Amino acid sequence: MAIWHISGGKRLEGACFVQGSKNAALPILAASVLTPAVTELINVPRLSDVDASLRILRQLGCVAEQRDNDVYIDSSAVTSCEIPREMMETMRSSVLFMGALLARCGEVRLTRPGGCKLGERPVDMHLSALEALGAEVEEDGCTIVCRANRLCGSVINLPYPSVGATENTMIAACAAEGTTTITGAAREPEIVDLQEYLRKLGAYISGAGTSKITICGFAAERHVGHRVMPDRIAASTFLCAAAAAGGDIELRGVDPSQFSPVRHFLNAAGCDIISGKRSVRLTSDGKLSSPGRIVTEPYPGFPTDAQPLLMAALLRASGKTVFSETVFDKRFAHTAELARFGADITVNGREAQLWGVRSLFGAVASATDLRGGAAAVIAALSAEGESMIIDGGHIVRGYENLDGRLRSLGADIYMEI
Ligand code: UD1
Repeated sequence: MAIWHISGGKRLEGACFVQGSKNAALPILAASVLTPAVTELINVPRLSDVDASLRILRQLGCVAEQRDNDVYIDSSAVTSCEIPREMMETMRSSVLFMGALLARCGEVRLTRPGGCKLGERPVDMHLSALEALGAEVEEDGCTIVCRANRLCGSVINLPYPSVGATENTMIAACAAEGTTTITGAAREPEIVDLQEYLRKLGAYISGAGTSKITICGFAAERHVGHRVMPDRIAASTFLCAAAAAGGDIELRGVDPSQFSPVRHFLNAAGCDIISGKRSVRLTSDGKLSSPGRIVTEPYPGFPTDAQPLLMAALLRASGKTVFSETVFDKRFAHTAELARFGADITVNGREAQLWGVRSLFGAVASATDLRGGAAAVIAALSAEGESMIIDGGHIVRGYENLDGRLRSLGADIYMEI
């Protein structure tokens, strides 16, 4: 178990590069088993979720290695279509292997995935989409088995723009005969990145980034290279940290258009933000005021993953801020931890009301989940005095060298393992 030690109240200053995107890398790693090919990825963050995906790939018979931010996968010989329960339970994204393995082997056997506890996280849309492509799905307790002699193109209308269900369907549909149309698709930038990768793999696919994606099979390539997009939630984390603690930071290697809603609310709260094509600079004197009401929504709305981060940034913002969480039914566990720093937050169902306080004080808090843990780090950076964040391994699932990057900006933080 990691413990984060933070001495708060220091301004953040300087420039840092932002890691590659976790949520783009994980579906691409799963998609790499779709065809017998060599995939070389760059800009892959070093994270425990990436390690878990590479372990799954090796379990399936692939060669899968990471050196620094480069990943090499050879999926010529897939020898198993089964993912053991302990591997499935390490993270939610393990479910993305379902579409890829079904397409490659005609069968996949796995269990329900793990991941952050943000309320109910069913996989019904994933399964219905695979059934629409011709798969037979059997569920026996926790075990899910999908089988299909051949997959057939279909029109799939997702009742909600689920990111994972869109990705699983895109991947499986590449191996279907005929044309598949996904309507009601999620529009996140990570889905556009997956489309780029699938195209390099030889897929005829278009429409990612809109709510209608069309897939018409593929002509397999043997060797694929791809650069993973930058992590817009990690970028948002640094912006929120500097907004809360005060500072002047520049983030490099990012695409600011991918986190416009976060920039919008930080700007409305009183931060100066200058965006370039591949960089963003934020200046804050740490004296913020409420930007009003924030409603989480699928992309291009305000991202649910940034809700805990922005909340932590606004704990001292004058006035009342309301957060309305529409994506997950239980995503306020971090509020009890933020209260330990002196925050004034009341939760009522899917809504949290935050009244800005004059100052925060150092505290011992827990990382409730990945972004909840990052929110506690942000609160500690803007609190007076010493804090400890007790982390059961959540933060390292999604952040590469978070303490080192924050130290390079002047924060007094270190992670004890
Ligand atoms: C992805 C992201 C996660 C982000 C989330 C929403 C990755 C690896 N993770 O998760 O960081 O918080 O998108 O932006 O990319 N749902 C169903 N049935 C399903 C699938 C989803 O009811 O079959 C519901 C979920 O319970 C949730 C909502 O749809 O309430 C959104 O989930 P989804 O978009 O699927 O999120 P993930 O892909 O799991």
